[in-house]
Amino acid sequence: MSISIIGAGNMAKGLATSFANACHSVTLASRDEAKAEAAAREVGNGVSAASIASAAQSADIIVLAVPFDAAGDVIDAAGGFAGKIVVDITNPMTADFSGLSIGHTTSAAEEIQKRAPQAKVVKAFNTIFAQVLQNGGQAAGHPATVFVAGDDEAARTAVAELARSAGFETLETGSLVTARYLEPTAALNITLGYGLGHGTDIAPTWQRAA
Ligand SMILES: NC(=O)c1ccc[n+]([C@@H]2O[C@H](COP(=O)([O-])OP(=O)(O)OC[C@H]3O[C@@H](n4cnc5c(N)ncnc54)[C@H](OP(=O)(O)O)[C@@H]3O)[C@@H](O)[C@H]2O)c1
Repeated sequence: MSISIIGAGNMAKGLATSFANACHSVTLASRDEAKAEAAAREVGNGVSAASIASAAQSADIIVLAVPFDAAGDVIDAAGGFAGKIVVDITNPMTADFSGLSIGHTTSAAEEIQKRAPQAKVVKAFNTIFAQVLQNGGQAAGHPATVFVAGDDEAARTAVAELARSAGFETLETGSLVTARYLEPTAALNITLGYGLGHGTDIAPTWQRAA
């Protein structure tokens, strides 16, 4: 698959590494192309860099690895992502990380879908710490679970397959509305990891019958 990741920070580089290791074609894009080029060089493994507009055009799946507040700028720079699968990994944390800035009646994912109405927005990877990506997708020695929510079933399936190809377990949680539950789950993960000292070698999962 051809994957473009918008962002050049911790999650962008971690996901680029995971997807490139799984033999996908990966492009990094940033508002500052020099940062995207530097990030692509750092990741290596055939990962390339491009402008946001051209990375958006060429990809099967686009990952938004930027802060939630930056999503609108990226959607504008990309020209709207019409028809594209857009993976929202954001957690709309307050600046001091003490809580979520939106929730209950909406979610970051639903707000991004409203802002890019012709895109197929899928929530995924938001409960996975960047350090877990660096660790080959493992938390505490086990494959971490990527929760996948989205209204378009084919898009949801494609993102779940992408995650599994990179070594993660997956659990589809249904429509995009369930991002309202996934974003607080990530906030709890951050509270446990950073606030209560459990560290970053953790990830939420769901015990269930096979
Ligand atoms: N870190 C984690 O463990 C983790 C886990 C799950 C989900 N997430 C989510 O993943 C996203 C990225 O987190 P991160 O830790 O990778 O952050 P990061 O290392 O700070 O990287 C953020 C990236 O977003 C770019 N950016 C910021 N504002 C922008 C704008 N207005 N337009 C275009 N690009 C902009 C930054 O570019 P510049 O360098 O030019 O500022 C940078 O490349 C966040 O939404 C976060 O909630 C993070």
